[in-house]
Amino acid sequence: MKQRIGIGIIGFGTVGCGVVKILIDQAELIRRRVGIPLEIVGIADQDITSDRGIALDRGILTTDVKRLIDNPQTDIVVELIGGLEPAKQFIVAALTKGKPLVTANKALLAVHGEEIYATAQQYGVDIGFEASVGGGMPIIRTLREGLAGEKVHTIYGIINGTANYILTKMNEEEVPFQEVVAEAQRAGFAEADPSTDIEGLDSAHKLAILINLAFGTPVNLGDVYTEGVTSITSLDLEAAREFGYTIKLLGIAKWSCGDARLPQGQIEARVHPTMIPNHSPLAQVNGVFNAIHLVGESVGDIMVYGRGAGSLPTGSAVVGDLIDIARNLVTKACVRVPHCSFQPDAREMLRLKPMAELCCAYYLRFTVQDTPGILSQLAGILGDHDISIASVLQRGRERGGKVPVVMITHEATEHNIQAAIQKIEGNLSERTMIIRIESQ
Ligand code: HSE
Repeated sequence: MKQRIGIGIIGFGTVGCGVVKILIDQAELIRRRVGIPLEIVGIADQDITSDRGIALDRGILTTDVKRLIDNPQTDIVVELIGGLEPAKQFIVAALTKGKPLVTANKALLAVHGEEIYATAQQYGVDIGFEASVGGGMPIIRTLREGLAGEKVHTIYGIINGTANYILTKMNEEEVPFQEVVAEAQRAGFAEADPSTDIEGLDSAHKLAILINLAFGTPVNLGDVYTEGVTSITSLDLEAAREFGYTIKLLGIAKWSCGDARLPQGQIEARVHPTMIPNHSPLAQVNGVFNAIHLVGESVGDIMVYGRGAGSLPTGSAVVGDLIDIARNLVTKACVRVPHCSFQPDAREMLRLKPMAELCCAYYLRFTVQDTPGILSQLAGILGDHDISIASVLQRGRERGGKVPVVMITHEATEHNIQAAIQKIEGNLSERTMIIRIESQ
C-alpha cells in the first residue's frame, strides 16, 4: 500500500502556481478524498528564482524536466507549459515511462491528441485534461462520466473568455474593438498577443476536444470552419439588439439525431460569431465567463457555466484530475474510464459536413450608396439565390452617401449566401458582414 502519491509539475507559471497553492492549502481535504496525501516532489521551470509568493521547500525546484520525470518518487506528471513542443516530448516521455499525466494543453490535444491517447493506452496509464477546456468548469468529466449514458448530439460553447469579454464590453459600453482589446490587455484578461483567442483558434482547439469525447470521433482541426470576432463592430451589436439577439463567439458541434439536414455519419463543427436570442441562457454569459450548453437525446438540455481561465479555477481542474488519477492508483483501477469516453476500438471516423451545406438564418450588413432602388437590387440578387428576407433595418439617411442596410434572412444555405454576397460585392466598395443565427 502506497503511503503517498508524488506529483511532479512541469511549468510554474500562472496555472502551475494555482495548482501548487491548492495542493498546499487543501492538503488535508485532498488526503481525506484520496485516502493518502498528494505530495509535490518536484517542480520544473526555466525560472526557479522568482518569488511566486508561495512558501515551498526550494529543493524541489529544478530546471531539469527529464530528472523530474525520471524521479522514481514522481507518480503523476503535470504538464503546464502549453504549446506543442517541447510539451509533447515531455508528455510522451512521461507516458512511455508508465507515468500518468495531467495537462491543460488544449492546442497539443487538438493537434496531436490521437498519438497521445494511443500512447497512454499502450502503456496503460491515465491522462487527465479537465483544465484544457473551460478552465475550472467540469466539462470533460461531465462528458466522460456524468453523461456516459447519453447520446449528446449538440454542443454550443462560449469557450473563450477573452473573446467573450471583448464582445460583452463592446455591447455594454459601445467601445470599438481595438480599444476593448487594449483595455483587456491592460486588465490582464487578454494575452500580449491575443490572436489565438480573438481569431477563434483557441475555441476550435477546445471544440475538437469536446467533439472527440461527445461524438467518439477525432476531427481534423484544419477542417473546422474557424472565424473570430475581429470584424464585429458596435453597429452589428446594436442591430442584433434591435432584432432581439446577442452576438457570441460560439463553438458549435452537431451529430446526426434524426434531422434530415445532418444525415447519419455526419457532424457539423464550426467556430464563428453567432447571433443567439437574447432570452437564451448563453446570451446571459458575460465577461470572461465560459459556458457550454449540451443537448442529449434522453436528458435534454444541460448547461455548465464557470470561469474559463485563471490561476485558481484552472488549478482546481488540474487538482481534480490529480485526485481522480491518485484514486485509480490507490485502487489499481487505471484507465477505468477510457481517455476519450468511448473505448479506443469503438471510436469511428465521422465525416465533417462541408460548410457550404450549412443551412441557417443569416444576418447580413451591407454598406451601400443611399440611392433610390438599392434595396430592391439587393433583394433581387438574394431572391435569385433562393434567399428569402425576414426583416430589414436601415438607420439614418445620407442621400448619395454610404449607409448600412441590415437584413435577417430566413433559412438559407451557406453556398447560396456566399454566392449572393459575391455577386452583390461586385458593386460595393465595402465588405458585407455575415453573421450566422442559431435560434434553437
Ligand atoms: N485564453 C483562453 C481564454 C483561456 O481567453 O479563454 C485559456 O484557455
